[in-house]
Amino acid sequence: MGAPRAHEASAALLLGRCRDRVRPALVEAVGRLHPWTGEMAAYGLGWADAAGTPGPGGSEGKGVRQALALLGAEAVGADGADAVPGAVAVELVHTFSLLHDDIMDADALRRQRPAVWKTYGTGPAVLAGDALLAQAVTTLAEAPGHQTAAAVRHLSHTLNTLVSGQAEDLRFEERPWSGPGAVEPDEYRSMAEHKTGALLGCALALGAILGGAPDRTVATLDRAGRHLGLAFQAVDDILGIWGDPGVTGKPVHADLRQGKKTAPVLIALSAGGKAAHTLGALLASGTRIDGENAEHAAALVEEAGGRTGTREEARRHLDAARHALREAPLRHSAAEELDVLFAHLLDRTW
Ligand code: IPE
Ligand code: MG
Ligand code: MG
Repeated sequence: MGAPRAHEASAALLLGRCRDRVRPALVEAVGRLHPWTGEMAAYGLGWADAAGTPGPGGSEGKGVRQALALLGAEAVGADGADAVPGAVAVELVHTFSLLHDDIMDADALRRQRPAVWKTYGTGPAVLAGDALLAQAVTTLAEAPGHQTAAAVRHLSHTLNTLVSGQAEDLRFEERPWSGPGAVEPDEYRSMAEHKTGALLGCALALGAILGGAPDRTVATLDRAGRHLGLAFQAVDDILGIWGDPGVTGKPVHADLRQGKKTAPVLIALSAGGKAAHTLGALLASGTRIDGENAEHAAALVEEAGGRTGTREEARRHLDAARHALREAPLRHSAAEELDVLFAHLLDRTW
C-alpha cells in the first residue's frame, strides 16, 4: 500500500550492512557442520540450490534477527562486532525453527522453493534442524568475553520458550473454533509471544548482553523485541491468508487450509454479526477448507473485521516496541536505526 518510503530504502541498507558483517562468521559456523547437514543448512539458508550449487537463490531471509543483535550491541554503546556470535546464534536458531516448523505445519514451500523436508526428506530435515540448533549453542558458548554464560543462559531460556510456543500453536489446531474450549485472544497472544516474540527479544538482548549492558537495559530491549515479535506475527498471520504467493513464497490461504488458529480468524469469530456467524458455522461444519471454500472463508474473515483488527493489533505492538526503546538509555543513532527497522517489518503488508 502506498509508495515506498524513505525508511524502506534505509532499512534495506541497514539489513545489508548487518548481513555483510555477520556473514563470514555464519559461513564458518555452517562450515563446521557435518557435510550433509551443512548442505541442507545451506539450502535452508538460501545459499545453495538442491544440488548443493552455491548461487543467488533469491531465497535468503532478510536477516532481521542478526541485525537486531548487532544493533542491540551498538545501541548500548558497544561495537557491533561484540555481538557477532549472538547474531550467528539467533540466525541459526531461526533457520532450525523454520526447518522444523515447515514439517509441523505441513508447508511444502518456503520462500518460493520446496521446503527442506520436501527436498531432502523429513528425517534428514529434522536432523539438519538439530545440527543448526547445536551449532547455534556452540557458537555462542565459544564467544569471548565475560558475558558468555549470561548470553547462553538467555538463549537457552528462549529455546524453551520457543518450543513451548510451537507446542501451543500445534495444540490449538485441535481446539474448537468457537464455544467452550475455543482459543481465547490472550492465549493466542501468549502463543505468538512465545513462538516468535521470544527469539526477536533474544536477538536484541544478546546484543545488549554481549555489549556489556546492565540487566535493566537488557530486559527493556528484550521487551521491545517481544512486542516487535507480536506485531511481526500479526503481519505474518495476515500474509498467511491474503499474502501474495509471489511475495510470501507460500501458497495462498495456507494457514486457513491447515486449520491454524491465527489472529485474523480469531478476531473475526469474536466480532459477532452475520459474517462472524457464517464463518463460525463454516469452520465448525468440518468441511475441508480448500479452493473456493478457502476463498469464501477469507472473505468472511475480512468482512467480520479480522483483517483490520489484526492490523490494529500489529500497530499497537509496534507502538509498544517503540515505546520500550525510548525507555532505555540507548545511543541515539542505533536507537534510530532500530526504529527504522521496526517500522520496515510492518510494511510487509501495507
Ligand atoms: C513460526 O510460526 C514460528 C517458528 C518457526 C518458531 P509460523 O508457522 O506462524 O511461521 P511461518 O508463517 O511458517 O513462517
Ligand atoms: Mg509455519
Ligand atoms: Mg508454525
